[in-house]
Amino acid sequence: QAQTNISVSVSDKAEPTISKYIYSNFAEHLGRGIYDGFYVGDTSKIPNTNGVRNDVIDALKKMKIPALRWPGGCFADTYHWKDGIGDKSKRPAIVNKWWGGVTEDNSFGTKEFLNMCEAIGTDPYISGNVGSGTVQELSDWVAYTTSDNKNPMSDLRKTTGRDKAWKVAFWGIGNEAWGCGGNMTPEYYANEFKKYSTFMSSGSGKMFRIASGANSDDYHWTDVLMKNIPQGLIEGIALHHYAIIDWDHKGPAIKFTEDQYFKTMKSALLMDTLVTKHSAIMDKYDPQKKIALVVDEWGGWYDVEPGTNPGFLYQQNSMRDAMIAGATLNIFNNHCDRVRMANLAQCINVLQAVILTQGNKIILTPTYHVMEMYNVHQDATLIPVTVNSDDYVFGSEKLAAISASASKDKNGIVHISLVNIDPNKNHKVSLNLDGKKFTVVKGRILASAKVQDYNSFDEPNKIEPKEFNGAVIKSNTISVNMPSASVIVLALN
Ligand code: AHR
Repeated sequence: QAQTNISVSVSDKAEPTISKYIYSNFAEHLGRGIYDGFYVGDTSKIPNTNGVRNDVIDALKKMKIPALRWPGGCFADTYHWKDGIGDKSKRPAIVNKWWGGVTEDNSFGTKEFLNMCEAIGTDPYISGNVGSGTVQELSDWVAYTTSDNKNPMSDLRKTTGRDKAWKVAFWGIGNEAWGCGGNMTPEYYANEFKKYSTFMSSGSGKMFRIASGANSDDYHWTDVLMKNIPQGLIEGIALHHYAIIDWDHKGPAIKFTEDQYFKTMKSALLMDTLVTKHSAIMDKYDPQKKIALVVDEWGGWYDVEPGTNPGFLYQQNSMRDAMIAGATLNIFNNHCDRVRMANLAQCINVLQAVILTQGNKIILTPTYHVMEMYNVHQDATLIPVTVNSDDYVFGSEKLAAISASASKDKNGIVHISLVNIDPNKNHKVSLNLDGKKFTVVKGRILASAKVQDYNSFDEPNKIEPKEFNGAVIKSNTISVNMPSASVIVLALN
């Protein structure tokens, strides 16, 4: 059997921190993401806190979700925040133009979102409307949410929201400005960004302004933004990339073929090239890495489940999604010098969700379990790894079978996360710990017989993390026999 060798450079050299915000999520007014996902309303029989499901709050707390992006996506550039404040019976109903043309009654607005974030213990990331909004509207939203000084917007909050300002650091200035956010050129958008950013100032605390970033490999977009936007006006620049086979033939979320699996993984692993190249462009203009690369939409995108509204983007979540999550988070960890936030698309009932709901039932998906297993890396110090991976071969093509990342937490515990994306073969992995000796190894594994396996409402716990005792330490080498399509996280001290 071939072997993958990984050298893990455990040293006292200063290394960057893996920002916890890499583990953030995204929740758009799309399909059953907000309504029937997070929010059931305070008259629902489903146990809730101010209308937000208690089982969702508990699950997301356990997963340790550090930030949540809202209200879009494409929806953000049609959203006028004043529609979603005050007496619910007086809030205007609008048409959700991008997602199924359904009625949006605005019953979940700014106050509901920000109070929900406090209940979950997550930081809000608000995506502002540039496409159909105004500079005044966005700067008013900032004042409404964050200012404790006397001004018309804090007065409005006191009569429609609450007395005390919330803390909102993360602000997106438009979304996909090259597409649904206004079909702009990067030059035009850079000017728009500067105008919006100039007039945004937070009441208290630091403000983190994120520019609408490139679509996958549109490196020109990043270059123009970095060249034209002065550093004092910007803290982050976004990037969107979905693991997708082909926009016209996305294939099913479950019951996919190995060909479809291979193509999805190939698209997911492209993330490494994308963050490497976008980071290199950013390095040219910002060698001190002051501006973060924020991958604020990523994940697998398939056909919707048969019989569901095509505009709702509801898809099941299988071990393939666990592979995407594990491998992508390893990429982000290893690029944490520049990637300092990422938002999985999307949190509940939309695309690569961590939670699916049906009436009063919920499922924690394989993606949820990976996010929860990996939360040990949040705010830990990166340990560089070099992976010489064995191949996952499919027909005449191949991909690296194994990916890894490692970190040391504040208690000195070293965590190593490993993914074997090969759906057919176990792979032997040998971890060389660079001269350091470790005595205790604890591990957890997520695996299932087939990469098509998933948690259903009838069998919600089919896939969940189990204790893993298969890591063998000899001197400063750890050997692990990784089952096909598995994710393992080891803890060493
Ligand atoms: O996540 C779904 C959609 O994908 C978002 O609204 C948009 O930003 C992207 O194209």
